[in-house]
Amino acid sequence: MSRLLVVSNRLPVTVGAAQGEAIVTPSMGGLSTGLRGPFERSQGLWIGWPGDLSGLDDAGRATVMKELQALRTLPVELTADELRSYYEDFANGVLWPVFHYLLDRIPLHSGGWEMYRHVNAKFAAAVAAQYRPGDTIWVHDYQLLLLPGMLREQLPGARIGFFLHIPFPASEVFRMLPWREDVLRGMLGADLIGFHTPSYARNFASAVVRLLGHEPVVDELAVAGRKVRFRAFPMGIDTETFTAPSPPHAGEFQPRPGEHLLLGVDRLDYTKGIRRRLSAVERVLTRRPDLRGKLRMLQIAVPSRESVTAYQDYRRRVEEIVGAINGRCSSLTDSPPIHYMYRGFPQEQLISLYRAASVMLVTPTRDGMNLVAKEFAASRTDGDGVLVLSEFAGAAEEMPEALHINPFDVDGMAQAIEQAVDMAEGERRSRMAGLRARVLRFDVHRWAEDFLAALADAEIGAPLEP
Ligand code: UDP
Ligand code: G6P
Repeated sequence: MSRLLVVSNRLPVTVGAAQGEAIVTPSMGGLSTGLRGPFERSQGLWIGWPGDLSGLDDAGRATVMKELQALRTLPVELTADELRSYYEDFANGVLWPVFHYLLDRIPLHSGGWEMYRHVNAKFAAAVAAQYRPGDTIWVHDYQLLLLPGMLREQLPGARIGFFLHIPFPASEVFRMLPWREDVLRGMLGADLIGFHTPSYARNFASAVVRLLGHEPVVDELAVAGRKVRFRAFPMGIDTETFTAPSPPHAGEFQPRPGEHLLLGVDRLDYTKGIRRRLSAVERVLTRRPDLRGKLRMLQIAVPSRESVTAYQDYRRRVEEIVGAINGRCSSLTDSPPIHYMYRGFPQEQLISLYRAASVMLVTPTRDGMNLVAKEFAASRTDGDGVLVLSEFAGAAEEMPEALHINPFDVDGMAQAIEQAVDMAEGERRSRMAGLRARVLRFDVHRWAEDFLAALADAEIGAPLEP
């Protein structure tokens, strides 16, 4: 029987340790949370990194391996050196900032390319060992850009799809990468390349023309005698999960009458625009004394990539600004306006918070899609709530009823927050109805089906020329 082999750096579960015991928890981040549902419906195998197993004794290891197998996942273990160089230095130290237009985040001594190649080759060997003729291979995200090309060499007849979960930058930015041609050739090993938005697909096409000289015809490229198709497949969410009734977890965050709860839910990542968002909230509090004591902001910041210096710096700066705002805007009678939590929550709890919020603030400076924006809309079965959304999130193209903001314009963001808080119920409901209709219609199962149907149509051609 032919199977779906999903390949991503991180498995949908991550193994960690608590009180000396191994614990297997759901992974955070849109790739894992989004793909989980379609994967469960498939009869596939998910190949990826399980987290750090090095602290486990033999018995602990055997238990974890059994659990991973029961989840139909196949671990690709990485050494401390591989992780540091491939994951921290290159994938998250170089590729992540370049693809998000944040060139000043690239360290002066950016290493890791050789190890990036090496780990992509390690993944290629793991996939090739599992592959049976007729299987479909679906590779995900920027950590594995070379993998489609490597697999094409080893498995010339395989059906290979690739999906990029982050933006593909303008070719002017992409061409700053010293390894730009290798990266494009790696991606072009796939038969079908998917992006979240048409503009990322256009950026990719223009990089391919400028750097490799292949001219696309509509959404198709001829590469060494093979056809490679590329286009947008905007990712959705598992709408069933977010429309289900939820127990009232929100507790004290349930706003009292006349109170407004602003909500932010992000991995603690410098692309998410958390600092400017908090400054905008402070501006509202300063400009609108009538809202003092009535406006509270809950910011969930999920720990992410804590070993990468740029993330450590960003965390420090976010926490400084939270302290500074609370210091300036607190009084003896009101609780501090910003409630900041450096931890992640299970999605059932997020749903309660999405439902309790008056205004959801999604203000990244760049974001491939941003599933949180869609989850908020889907959760609002009451038809109320306002979404303030960055025009630089992929989701903005599909969510015109949100209040769009430029996250670099703090004053404009403050005005949008005021507009959201002051919005009449009729307008809130009509905007939310538009948002929900689209989110519910194009859910993640449809996304996966569309991508896999297009991949099933692909004509598998000759291998890449060396
Ligand atoms: N998420 C979660 N618990 C949290 C915060 C976030 O499970 O405490 C999930 C959230 O529901 C969403 C994903 O993490 O599905 C974040 O995806 P998004 O596309 O918004 O951003 P990414 O983290 O992929 O950059
Ligand atoms: C984003 C990326 C994913 C990544 C996730 C969490 O969603 O697109 O590839 O898995 O962030 O980041 P992490 O580095 O913890 O896997």
